[in-house]
Amino acid sequence: MKKYHAVMNRIYLLVIVVAIFTGCQKNSNTSPSSANSRVDGRVDSVLALMTLEEKIGQLTLFTSDYDVTGPTIRENYKDDIKAGKVGAIFNAFGADYTRKLQEIAVKETRLHIPLLFGYDVIHGHRTIFPIPLGESCSWDLNVMQQSARIAAEEASAEGLHWTFAPMCDIARDPRWGRMAEGAGEDTYLGSRIAEARVKGFQGEGIGALNSVLACVKHFAAYGAAQAGRDYHTTDMSDRVLREVYLPPYKAAIDAGAATVMTSFNELDGIPATGNKYLMTDILRKEWNFTGFVVTDYTSIMELLPHGIAEDTASAAALALEAGVDMDMQAGFYNDALEKLVKEGKLKEGLIDEAVRRILRKKFELGLFDDPYRYSNVEREKSTVMKKEFLDAARDGARKSIVLLKNEKQVLPLSKSIKRLAVIGPLADARREMIGSWSAAGDWTKAVTLLEGIKAAVTSSTQVLYARGCNINDDTTKYFAQAIQTAKQADVVVLAVGEAALMTGEAASRTALDLPGVQQKLVEEIQKTGKPMVVVLSNGRPLTINWINDNIPAIVETWFLGTQAGYAIADVLFGDYNPSGKLTVTFPRAVGQVPIHYSMKNTGRPMDANNKYTSKYLDESNEPLYPFGYGLSYTTFTYGDISLSSPQITQQDELKVTCKVTNTGKRAGEEVVQLYIHDLVGSVTRPVKELKNFQKIMLQPGESKEITFTITQHDLSFYRKDMSFGVEPGKFEVYIGGNSRDLKKAAFMLR
Ligand code: NOJ
Repeated sequence: MKKYHAVMNRIYLLVIVVAIFTGCQKNSNTSPSSANSRVDGRVDSVLALMTLEEKIGQLTLFTSDYDVTGPTIRENYKDDIKAGKVGAIFNAFGADYTRKLQEIAVKETRLHIPLLFGYDVIHGHRTIFPIPLGESCSWDLNVMQQSARIAAEEASAEGLHWTFAPMCDIARDPRWGRMAEGAGEDTYLGSRIAEARVKGFQGEGIGALNSVLACVKHFAAYGAAQAGRDYHTTDMSDRVLREVYLPPYKAAIDAGAATVMTSFNELDGIPATGNKYLMTDILRKEWNFTGFVVTDYTSIMELLPHGIAEDTASAAALALEAGVDMDMQAGFYNDALEKLVKEGKLKEGLIDEAVRRILRKKFELGLFDDPYRYSNVEREKSTVMKKEFLDAARDGARKSIVLLKNEKQVLPLSKSIKRLAVIGPLADARREMIGSWSAAGDWTKAVTLLEGIKAAVTSSTQVLYARGCNINDDTTKYFAQAIQTAKQADVVVLAVGEAALMTGEAASRTALDLPGVQQKLVEEIQKTGKPMVVVLSNGRPLTINWINDNIPAIVETWFLGTQAGYAIADVLFGDYNPSGKLTVTFPRAVGQVPIHYSMKNTGRPMDANNKYTSKYLDESNEPLYPFGYGLSYTTFTYGDISLSSPQITQQDELKVTCKVTNTGKRAGEEVVQLYIHDLVGSVTRPVKELKNFQKIMLQPGESKEITFTITQHDLSFYRKDMSFGVEPGKFEVYIGGNSRDLKKAAFMLR
């Protein structure tokens, strides 16, 4: 009899499971809201079948053994899948491998619930694009959307459903190595870029076969780590949090981002992973976020050393009650939640809510229709590293390059220089080119600068090469050969900078100089008197004052990805006229940090003739290169600003126009930037705030009238009482090609 019941139960279960799987087949005639309620219905029917242990399994994300960024405390993850203790796996990719793992979940667990596969697809999956900070310097939202799109195409063809990107952390401290993964220092630009990247990853929508779920990270204010030290404390006013740090995350969520990742840091004394104010009050109640929240790597476990929870159970409860749905890699939900519920210390309803949010995404991805739909070997083969993807990577890379200096027209170089010396530890550094966080990118396929140059020049050019030194040690033994090589050449291209892994996670620095003996190498090569170009590869601003003072041409290339060498050569030889602009201020000294263009004026603005004003004894206040700065092989001039009206009311918009002319001899692109300054407020306002920009192309001699519309939203801020809105008074408006050299006009808001 017992046996009969067991068999009948099994049959009953199967019938329900089949109904759930088939019930969610796509029906193109359904409206979005009826589709939503159909998904909700399916989610609830699965939930109704689940044991508490199975529910907790869905809240658990473990790494596979493919690729990890921290301790792999669960080596037996395949057993965990079988036991229904894990609902999602990260760091596993490849159509074949993901299919194998999926088979375990689908065939060997009681409810056959498919796994979700996540991975850090940050700047490309197989075809690697520039590091996000570099790419942001293109100020080209289409380029950024497109690179995320291609990353999603490749990742989804390899069985992935979910990327842990975009990183939307505003970063104003270059000591913090993770600055490389974001969009720089500016809130407005960071917000626009966050939107573009989400749109790229999620494409036509969740469930499209070539899309992946985006994950907005690291929520919140991870970029404000004290002293630029990774994982360190952040502490700021609610005003700064809302005005500077939150908008890019919000923009990404408004663009439809499906998931959010907590940050490692604490904020106002509460670690983000246990922070209800962030995860529930702001994210869900204020912003109406309906996706799910995942922790960063082992973050629930880290609530113990943070000193906010004394054991596994209290850490797990704190995180769940704060609004965290999925536990990445700590295993604390697995270990503690069931007991907490059984002891009546935690409401099962909270777990149900979290499970619903996660299952909903699995349904939306179509995994209940076909758990293997993203794991298709044929599609994988025909998708990854397609020619058109490589072309897009080259185009995005050259658009990300920033020309920092070009005196005596050293650049562009002629393709028929007789002897060209390519020197430096980053000249032929294949591994470095793809940068940090390069996912499944195969560095052996990256193009080095030396290769790019060789491919660009004509047969009459002899390309010489010397390494000169290593990136980060004291050895000067290769100097002599490098100097000799330089002496034989007509022009020297000297490639210096950082190793890829000197930025990214856990890569903070206290100095922003060129590491190792590279500065000495530059000085020695400069003594040869040869015309010289310094090509920089780095993931953060560097303090390169000596180079700026002594070398005629400097090209900032960041880490440009798979096609790096070709892209740099395109710029060096003028096949592409550089158009990138810095999205982060370059300080003159690390002691100026944090330095950004949108500072406050202070009560004692800097006055060189008055000691008691806000300045340094040993360095100017000015950056080496300001935010928004970057040169071209042509020149642009800006006419005076004209306004649609000298005053507006709180119902009006203002049109601001400026004529931009290409005064040089080559066609070129310019990023026309609009800033405002609210002169007097109930709280002080930054001296400048970027509010819009347009990237335009001008032929030699061509002029264009550029018009921006300033809205009331652009003029709004968190006022004294924390309400968001405008205050009447005088505003200044600026237009120009960087945050320093600007035309100015003024208007009144009545
Ligand atoms: C830690 C990083 O902070 C986060 O950005 C990343 O997504 C996870 N590790 C997973 O690899």
